[in-house]
Amino acid sequence: MEVIQVLGGRPVTGEVLVEGAKNSALKLMAATIAAPGVTTLKNVPDISDVHVMGKVLKRLGAKIEVVNKHELRIDTTDVDKWETPYELVAQMRASTAVLGPLISRFGKAVVAMPGGCNIGERKIDMHILGLEALGVEFKVDHGNIHASTPNGLHGETVTLAFASVGATENLIMASVRARGVTVIDNAAREPEIVDLANMLNEMGADIRGAGTPVVEIHGVGELHPVTHTVVGDRIEAGTFIATGALCGAPITVRGFDPLHLGLVLRKYAQMGISIERGEREVTVWRDRPLVPTDIQTLPFPGFPTDMQAQTMTLLSLAKGSCIITENVFENRFMLASELRRMGADITIEGHHAIVHGVDGLSGAQVKSPDLRGGAALVMAGLVADGYTTIGDIHHIRRGYEDFVEKLQALGADVRYNTVEVEEAPLGWDL
Ligand code: EPZ
Repeated sequence: MEVIQVLGGRPVTGEVLVEGAKNSALKLMAATIAAPGVTTLKNVPDISDVHVMGKVLKRLGAKIEVVNKHELRIDTTDVDKWETPYELVAQMRASTAVLGPLISRFGKAVVAMPGGCNIGERKIDMHILGLEALGVEFKVDHGNIHASTPNGLHGETVTLAFASVGATENLIMASVRARGVTVIDNAAREPEIVDLANMLNEMGADIRGAGTPVVEIHGVGELHPVTHTVVGDRIEAGTFIATGALCGAPITVRGFDPLHLGLVLRKYAQMGISIERGEREVTVWRDRPLVPTDIQTLPFPGFPTDMQAQTMTLLSLAKGSCIITENVFENRFMLASELRRMGADITIEGHHAIVHGVDGLSGAQVKSPDLRGGAALVMAGLVADGYTTIGDIHHIRRGYEDFVEKLQALGADVRYNTVEVEEAPLGWDL
């Protein structure tokens, strides 16, 4: 099994440039379906989730030219299928982002019902409810969602029960060419949604208010392909900022907009972390003990759930106790049991994690519970006593390009390795 091995205690300092945002790039790639022709995407992260989305688009009939590892030329002229296979949706639930663009272009779509994942059930009931309001009819059978628009798509006012990122994005992408005006109330406000709306508007759409709780989409005729640069990844940036905060020595993180991490930077300052903001970068260091600080995750501009795990690692070494409340996903505390193996003192009570700071962590064998938890474990290894071996690192590869290499460039003693895994015995092979 491939693992990441870290030897704690080395100074970690220097500069790191983050890639384009995973949670924007995936939707921008899907949105190219709605604009037949060749769209060029720049600053695309070279991560496995992007590779899977590429497979989905190719399965639909698109052609993809990898100009260089961060630039894709996607030709959707000949997209003539509207069915995404289960095996790809099961690999990555973000494949459901093709639902809106397929409906916009073909008036129909077949998407496998996404399975859950280990951070939660990941339902798409809000996507379906919203799209039904626009005139989409759904049938679910054999695990597939069949969408059709017998009477075309018409604008409607849709109020989301929760500011769902995916539902907001699918509704925007489905309604760009609907007859009339669509209003999404209680829309998600994430910067990745603003990036998607910007590209769609460059393509000829008429989307107003992206980034606010009320988004208005005025239906237009055709969309045309464009060249668009993906917004910087605020969560990859936040992960390296958390790393600098944890290890103490200064790290400058470039390639993103610090305004996209507003509350994280404010909370980190409360935790005794020094932050210097620039236009497109942040320098972080720490020369005093971490102050325990309560955290509640919420949709943007609230504290991002995708920074919860990295912050739990920080708070596990604070001088005192605090509470982390996870309001977005129902099961996103699996990191706690792995950190406990390293000596952390964390108790889970439903949506709350009670974190009692300890003086230090000790290296151990642990497993990535999910994408951000995996990164948080590598971080913990950087300051733990001795060696930490992290397994299931495919989770990390989904969302971090060259994570190990970037940490090595900052001076960390971290490397890939492979370990023999004792296969679970089948029967008594004593
Ligand atoms: C996006 O997921 C991101 N993924 C997630 O990042 C991120 O954590 C999340 O937004 C919140 O910011 C991508 O963009 C690919 P939601 P998404 O719809 O769209 C429930 C990472 O680490 N819900 O805002 O799925 C849902 O189960 C990943 O990069 C419904 O119940 O998030 C969840 O509990 C992890 N019904 C909550 O809402 C629905 O119809 C938020 O989901 C839709 C969502």
